[in-house]
Amino acid sequence: MEIVTFEKEMAAGVARCYNELVEPMPYSSPVAREAFSDFTHAQLQGCTEEEILVARDAGEVAGFVHVGVSAPPTHKWHIEGEPGVIRFLSYRRGERPVGAALLQAAEQWARERERTAVVAEYGGYMYPFYLLPLGNISEQISHVPPLFGMAGYEVPECEVFFEWRDFQPPEVSAPDADVELLCKKPQAHASGLKVSVAAVQGEEQVGEFSMLSLREDRWRPQLADWCTAGLLCVADRLQGRGIGKCLVARGLTEMRKAGLRHAMISTDWNNWRAYLFYTNFGFRFLDRTFGFRKRLTAGQ
Ligand SMILES: CC(C)(COP(=O)(O)OP(=O)(O)OC[C@H]1O[C@@H](n2cnc3c(N)ncnc32)[C@H](O)[C@@H]1OP(=O)(O)O)[C@@H](O)C(=O)NCCC(=O)NCCS
Repeated sequence: MEIVTFEKEMAAGVARCYNELVEPMPYSSPVAREAFSDFTHAQLQGCTEEEILVARDAGEVAGFVHVGVSAPPTHKWHIEGEPGVIRFLSYRRGERPVGAALLQAAEQWARERERTAVVAEYGGYMYPFYLLPLGNISEQISHVPPLFGMAGYEVPECEVFFEWRDFQPPEVSAPDADVELLCKKPQAHASGLKVSVAAVQGEEQVGEFSMLSLREDRWRPQLADWCTAGLLCVADRLQGRGIGKCLVARGLTEMRKAGLRHAMISTDWNNWRAYLFYTNFGFRFLDRTFGFRKRLTAGQ
């Protein structure tokens, strides 16, 4: 087995590896070689020095790791400067030495560029065609996350996804009389439609919920009937009074009217309140996704 730098003739093999990896995920649909042969498709804005390192065995692509240097994720990752990034790592289940060699090669690549940290599989770096919008690496691809864990990576971010197929927004009682819901007319958005609902008390906005349809998402045609939640929040002092439920019910109702049938929503794994809210409301657990970080020391 050798690790080489990607060349265009490897695009079909790399696409096959990618497709094999995401196949167990819900909503998976394969990408063609063009996703990789024309690098602009997979490229990440603001990411420099991007490269794909390919593991080849007897001339066949056995795995790959996509590396680069980029701005760090949010401040909660506590990273100074630009880390080396692993946008995606793919190897076949059962072939741990291949996965481990790719991971080592990626870390070495980052060290050679004097990076002191590596961020891996973070949702903001994932491919535009990766299946959960803003999802990190899925636990359903169950041989990849533990490879990072075993190599000393920490998990600064774990996002849990919920789905509701053929959603039927429940009737919910109106919030307190002094809180009003205002729903903007659905707006056109790059991925389809955007619905925004605000909760207002007097002049003050005290809650907000937004949803996006994925109808126009060119990379995820299998999600054309889906919508996904953006922001959801209710002012601290008014939480627990039914405003969150009203916001979500209204947002879903608007999406239903616009012809969307399925919904997904996500939250931090330890936001138990949101977790409880979504599952009691009608959503079902779908997946857990991990974003990894490792601090590099010279020669490690
Ligand atoms: C999550 C959030 C939007 C819920 O809004 P809310 O107006 O407080 O929620 P509601 O009063 O409509 O209650 C809906 C559900 O939330 C949960 N909930 C509400 N208050 C709760 C409390 N005091 N204790 C435990 N669960 C509670 C319950 O599951 C409740 O449903 P139930 O009463 O049928 O059991 C709100 O708590 C919030 O803004 N949190 C901070 C931001 C956030 O975490 N957003 C989600 C990020 S993905």
